[in-house]
Amino acid sequence: MVDQAEELRRRLRAREANGDDVSFANGRVIVFASGKGGVGKSSLCVNFALALGRLGRRPVVIDADMGFANVEVLLGVRPSRTVSAILDGFDIWEVLQDTAVGLPFLSGGSGLFDIHDLNASEIDRMLTEVRKLRLRYDTVLIDSGAGLSANLARVIGAADDFILVTTPEPTAIADAYALLKLLVGLGDLPPTKVIVNRAASLVEGRIAADKLCQVALRFLDVRLDVLGYVLEDRVVHEAVMAQIPFVARHPHSLAAHCVGQLARNYVQGARGSESRGLHGFLERLFERRRSRGALDSTHPT
Ligand SMILES: Nc1ncnc2c1ncn2[C@@H]1O[C@H](COP(=O)(O)OP(=O)(O)OP(=O)(O)O)[C@@H](O)[C@H]1O
Ligand SMILES: [Mg+2]
Repeated sequence: MVDQAEELRRRLRAREANGDDVSFANGRVIVFASGKGGVGKSSLCVNFALALGRLGRRPVVIDADMGFANVEVLLGVRPSRTVSAILDGFDIWEVLQDTAVGLPFLSGGSGLFDIHDLNASEIDRMLTEVRKLRLRYDTVLIDSGAGLSANLARVIGAADDFILVTTPEPTAIADAYALLKLLVGLGDLPPTKVIVNRAASLVEGRIAADKLCQVALRFLDVRLDVLGYVLEDRVVHEAVMAQIPFVARHPHSLAAHCVGQLARNYVQGARGSESRGLHGFLERLFERRRSRGALDSTHPT
């Protein structure tokens, strides 16, 4: 019997041979993280999502920075519900937040990724609702807090792409390396792409990226892709103050051009590469917990 995954792969290969773009056929899940805080993850996540939208992708952003949710502030909205409202009976479309710039987002709160308290039926309910995002969106971008928690490690491990954000400062590069080292130690690093943010010049960005790539290869045996560079640009601060993403507010700024290039690089790099998509992401994220939940429910204590 041909298993489902093999059948899907066969169909994707056939579509690719027909000239179809299969890289987003399953959707893609991208996680933004950094070692050091304040390097620009949230800002890049939101603006990169908008830039992908301009390339014809259908992005949705999930804020997984538990306790320090910034995406809503950057988008100038106050969501009335977090994803944990799903457990109170709301469906995904009632939890999803519209924004003025047309970028939908989901406030992760502690409900989606901090799942230790969920029982098996709650996990099933969460999975059923979150999976519906696939009906409307083909790219899920997840913003996280700085550093690493056990939850974030699982989220990164389940994603199609991990975007590691740093600035050119040696402290940020050292912390990015430290984060990579932790993830490698845990044994589940998805394809990793580096963005150097706040570079004074493209040369400075390239030198910083080279440094990180070299140490990752030499000491961790990990090959990183460089997605690109975003220059230091005061419009970023101005857009944060106005609570409107700079790609929308200042589409001709240097920062917006840089992010547009990142999005093009991403789409081009994804071409031909298979993704697990949202379905695969959720399966991986919940699989261990779910089997424990099933065990718990058959052996009540
Ligand atoms: N390219 C840039 N040019 C100028 N300023 C920038 C740039 N990128 C980010 N900043 C500044 O850095 C600040 C912090 O960015 P952001 O909140 O996105 O970082 P973060 O990595 O998400 O932080 P945290 O770790 O706290 O979640 C922004 O508010 C903005 O003022
Ligand atoms: Mg942030």
